[in-house]
Amino acid sequence: MRAIAVSEYGATPAPMNLPRPEPEPGEVLVRVIAAGLNPLDWKIAEGMLKDSLDVPFPLILGRDGAGVVEETGEGVTGLREGEQVYGCFAAVERGLGSFAEYAVVRADGAVARMPEGMIYTQAAAVPTASATALAMVEQARVDTGQTVLVVGATGGVGQSVVQLASRAGAKVIATARDDMAGTMRRLGADETVDHSAGDLNRQVLAVHSDGIDAVLDMVSDAGAAEHLAQLLRPGGTYVSTTWAVNPDAMEAKELRGVNFRNEPSAEQLHRLTDLIDSGALRVRVEREVPLEDAAGALAANRIGGARGKTVLRI
Ligand SMILES: NC(=O)c1ccc[n+]([C@@H]2O[C@H](COP(=O)([O-])OP(=O)(O)OC[C@H]3O[C@@H](n4cnc5c(N)ncnc54)[C@H](OP(=O)(O)O)[C@@H]3O)[C@@H](O)[C@H]2O)c1
Repeated sequence: MRAIAVSEYGATPAPMNLPRPEPEPGEVLVRVIAAGLNPLDWKIAEGMLKDSLDVPFPLILGRDGAGVVEETGEGVTGLREGEQVYGCFAAVERGLGSFAEYAVVRADGAVARMPEGMIYTQAAAVPTASATALAMVEQARVDTGQTVLVVGATGGVGQSVVQLASRAGAKVIATARDDMAGTMRRLGADETVDHSAGDLNRQVLAVHSDGIDAVLDMVSDAGAAEHLAQLLRPGGTYVSTTWAVNPDAMEAKELRGVNFRNEPSAEQLHRLTDLIDSGALRVRVEREVPLEDAAGALAANRIGGARGKTVLRI
């Protein structure tokens, strides 16, 4: 089968012809039709897991995908051949991922039937980013009447965070360069601040001189997070997907700091399906590219400037 893989950590991802995987007991084999791209994909290619997991090479990249169940492994009851599914189709420890014609997923893992009427390229854009957003907004205990700052709001995770935090009743301040300010407002942001136009704290405090209740941050390093945390009122919460906060230091200041890692689950996907079906959540596909152009798409995401999700057509 055609796949995008690396021959070693740090190598350029390349199209390869690799054996089609066999579903193990409890797994389904999915014929992948579209695969969503996440920063995690290039981070893994560069060696993010090298000290924590033994992986075989070539290592097929990618985790998000949408497609059709081709075959079910022994003991699978919940899913049937021919069903349209989406989810996280990576078995990194076996060198398998979603940037391929076929991928495997545990039937009791992060896989669900596709939302009604949704096309494959849209569904593939959903799993990692929107499941993370869903769990992050819950972790931050975002509630009616709160003011929350979303840092990295224009990216894949951020766009869902903005919609879900707004839906939870919060006043949402979204980071956005000029070209994305209107989009952020349409997604539910009440205000935008431009991270390319000077200090964010100054921009936020100009409107909210008493500070804010939460920061949901997909971008900052430790130094930037420490600075942004000064925006929080006592009792405020900082959730970071880049593991940039020091929870103990924050607790000493009567703040709650959470370094957050999401493990997408079927339960999260079912909830996302409901939100999408009801029109409460929209996922914006910025770019669709053929599988063979994955290396360029990964490099572009690494440089930055995402305005939505990139999806590979298999
Ligand atoms: N811990 C977890 O479970 C988990 C799960 C999912 C994702 N993540 C991580 O979360 C991060 C974001 O993921 P993603 O999929 O949303 O990425 P993405 O789609 O590539 O988006 C990143 C966004 O951040 C914006 N940005 C960059 N620097 C910024 C700054 N200083 N201030 C404000 N915005 C800035 C970018 O816009 P400009 O380039 O225009 O500034 C871009 O729109 C990645 O590091 C990813 O690995 C972690």
